[in-house]
Amino acid sequence: MDFDTVIDRTNAHSAKWDNLQGLYGLSAEGTLSMWVADMDFRSPECVIRAGRRLTEHGVFGYRGDYDGYNDAISWWMKTRHGWDVKADEIFTTCGLINGMNLCLWAFTQPGDEVIIFTPVYHVFSIAISAAGRKVRECALVVGKDGRHHMDFAAYEADMTGREKAIVLCSPHNPGGRVWTAEELRDLAGFAARHNLLIISDEIHHDLIFPGNRHVPLVNAAPEHLERIIMMAAPSKTFNVAGNHAGMVIIQDPAMKKVFSDLMAGLHIAPTIYGTAMTEAAYTPQGAEWLESLMVYLAGNARIFLAGMDALPGVAAMPMQATYLSWIDFNGTGMSPDEVRKRVVDQARIAPGYGPAFGTGGEGHLRFNLGMPRVQIQEAVSRLHDAFADL
Ligand SMILES: Cc1ncc(COP(=O)(O)O)c(C=O)c1O
Repeated sequence: MDFDTVIDRTNAHSAKWDNLQGLYGLSAEGTLSMWVADMDFRSPECVIRAGRRLTEHGVFGYRGDYDGYNDAISWWMKTRHGWDVKADEIFTTCGLINGMNLCLWAFTQPGDEVIIFTPVYHVFSIAISAAGRKVRECALVVGKDGRHHMDFAAYEADMTGREKAIVLCSPHNPGGRVWTAEELRDLAGFAARHNLLIISDEIHHDLIFPGNRHVPLVNAAPEHLERIIMMAAPSKTFNVAGNHAGMVIIQDPAMKKVFSDLMAGLHIAPTIYGTAMTEAAYTPQGAEWLESLMVYLAGNARIFLAGMDALPGVAAMPMQATYLSWIDFNGTGMSPDEVRKRVVDQARIAPGYGPAFGTGGEGHLRFNLGMPRVQIQEAVSRLHDAFADL
């Protein structure tokens, strides 16, 4: 498995590389693109082969059989996550933000408040607002361990009764927090006390560093099944996000019926590439590739986080999952614009900007570590040069 080769992704329809000029004023040449969440690695051979088979067949008609696809998903969820998923509980949406928004349309009303735990993946708030629902930010706190924690006592005190749903990010983006079973049970208890639906976005659930374990929300709180919607996808795990194929998995019969009608009405069906690659990825070959990937990403994280922590006033959040590191520049005393100038203009690195992730994002940058080791080392070196006067 080769994660070390630097692959030129320019002029290959890549948002991450082809949008640098427009977003950061940087040409791709000489830039390290560390913003949007896809990796610069090739997918596993089993996935590439599945795409190639379709392409070489050359006829791209409607897909008719979903048994192998559904079986592969059930196998993966059971073997990787100890979670029982049946074929009729799986709805394939056009990615997970599409899935989340369909859930909001199906189970909440315009004007309802939707809780998110910030800082969090910025598209949650964009999509919730675009659906005519109101974003309610519940700020995470940074504990003595340097990681994000939920603060239910504070959230309880602020509840208004207008909240109808929670969108959870598990594991958490940014910062790579793996929520424990106990934390998830506390969350489900909180939701039950306030009669809230929980949409659990577990898109990063396979990207778990060795020594940590992801717990699906339904496994942590099975007694709350009637208020839980699960979402998962192969997109981050196998670097196939461009397929826009994600799963909304609903195990409560009443909610399943409502959602099934909505999907049928909108005639949402997955692409042949998305389903074929999912089926090929959720196999022992895919699992073997993933094991190697996680060792590699953990190595990248060790180097990058140590490099950032070595800069006076800069603090890296310790990661348990994902490839999205969360770096706090507040201790440098520099303005966000000064930090931006040094990182973007001087070091020629394109990160995600913290404030977009909501409350708690001030003074932070998010760096995507899903790239060859040599580029991670180069990023650390450039950032040390850019902040050499600290
Ligand atoms: C937590 C989370 N949810 C959803 C997405 C986007 O998923 P999709 O492309 O399937 O809509 C991302 C992408 O970074 C993410 O981090």
